[in-house]
Amino acid sequence: MAGEESVRNKQVVLKNYVDAGLPKESDMEIKESTIHLKVPEGSKDAILVKNLYLSCDPYMRNRLKNIQGSYVAPFQIGSPLSGYGVAKVLDSTHSRYAKGDLIWGITGWEEYTLITAVDAVFKIQNTDVPLTYYTGLLGMAGMTAYAGFYEICSPKKGEYVYVSAASGAVGQLVGQFAKLLGCYVVGSAGSKEKVDLLKNKFGFDAAFNYKEEPDLDAALKRFFPEGIDIYFENVGGKMLDAVLANMRVHGRIAACGMISQYNNEQLDAVHNLIYIIPKAIRMQGFIVTHFYHLYPKYLEMVIPYIKEGKITYVEDKADGLESAPAALVGLFTGRNVGKQLVVVSHD
Ligand SMILES: NC(=O)c1ccc[n+]([C@@H]2O[C@H](COP(=O)([O-])OP(=O)(O)OC[C@H]3O[C@@H](n4cnc5c(N)ncnc54)[C@H](OP(=O)(O)O)[C@@H]3O)[C@@H](O)[C@H]2O)c1
Repeated sequence: MAGEESVRNKQVVLKNYVDAGLPKESDMEIKESTIHLKVPEGSKDAILVKNLYLSCDPYMRNRLKNIQGSYVAPFQIGSPLSGYGVAKVLDSTHSRYAKGDLIWGITGWEEYTLITAVDAVFKIQNTDVPLTYYTGLLGMAGMTAYAGFYEICSPKKGEYVYVSAASGAVGQLVGQFAKLLGCYVVGSAGSKEKVDLLKNKFGFDAAFNYKEEPDLDAALKRFFPEGIDIYFENVGGKMLDAVLANMRVHGRIAACGMISQYNNEQLDAVHNLIYIIPKAIRMQGFIVTHFYHLYPKYLEMVIPYIKEGKITYVEDKADGLESAPAALVGLFTGRNVGKQLVVVSHD
């Protein structure tokens, strides 16, 4: 009920589903409602938050489709989108949270959100690092790079590592983790600016623009004359096929994502799967949420790296909720340079 503490609540609302093809800004719209800045009476274990930063993530593409039975449920037409974000607690009926706490986790694409699924939220304990990092490096993307690289790839010093979509939220970290371990690391990305970042900012040994390589197989042979031990798969499609033909014996592929397929009506076929037999390749998919129990261990490793300047993180900040639809759809044309986030409010 609108009362003294009711305020305007700007929201990014889904207008229509997009089952195939590139999503557009106009598939979403900005609307306004009002919200009472208190957890409603009788609502146990809930928090009312002010959203500060929202994370744009490729998996959200699946939620723009009206497809039941996926590992994520479709967004609801007419309701705000939801996703990872960083927020400040304004009111709480949950014993673990108090007014003033900072959290990261699943929240609404709006200014204020009543979060009832508090299990999908982490309390932020370290505030002497940039708070935006909890949308990426210290949040879901960071845990994805950590779990995917260390848990799935079983990496060893000196191995040959290839990362696709390498300048993005996850890829830039995988490459840096691999370098810290003493691997030889090559990344691919879709522009000269991104390739420069990989080589000059993130310390990859080499990098290339996959859009300028008419023959991906030849490109991989050029960068990995002895083959690839570890492939961190972010894109799928033709790239996966080319990689399969260039893996070394006992190679590992962490199937993290296949963004080249998310807008397709028909999924691309994989032609080179046969190589996994003679080369004894292990290819394993994973979902980051299955590894969240490792989050404290990840922080223990990564916070010192950040403070010592051994890990760096490039973010692409869109300003204001109004810019959120463009920021989200931009992931699928490579508009983002680094981790894409939306600044809703600074405090
Ligand atoms: N398994 C999990 O739990 C999990 C968790 C998080 C993320 N992921 C997956 O990890 C991957 C990377 O996610 P992220 O958050 O780090 O995204 P991101 O790399 O920050 O952004 C997406 C990037 O993908 C590239 N891209 C877009 N369309 C492409 C296409 N058709 N072919 C090749 N590249 C394309 C673009 O970079 P270029 O300019 O380089 O093309 C774009 O900037 C995604 O596949 C995502 O779904 C999986």
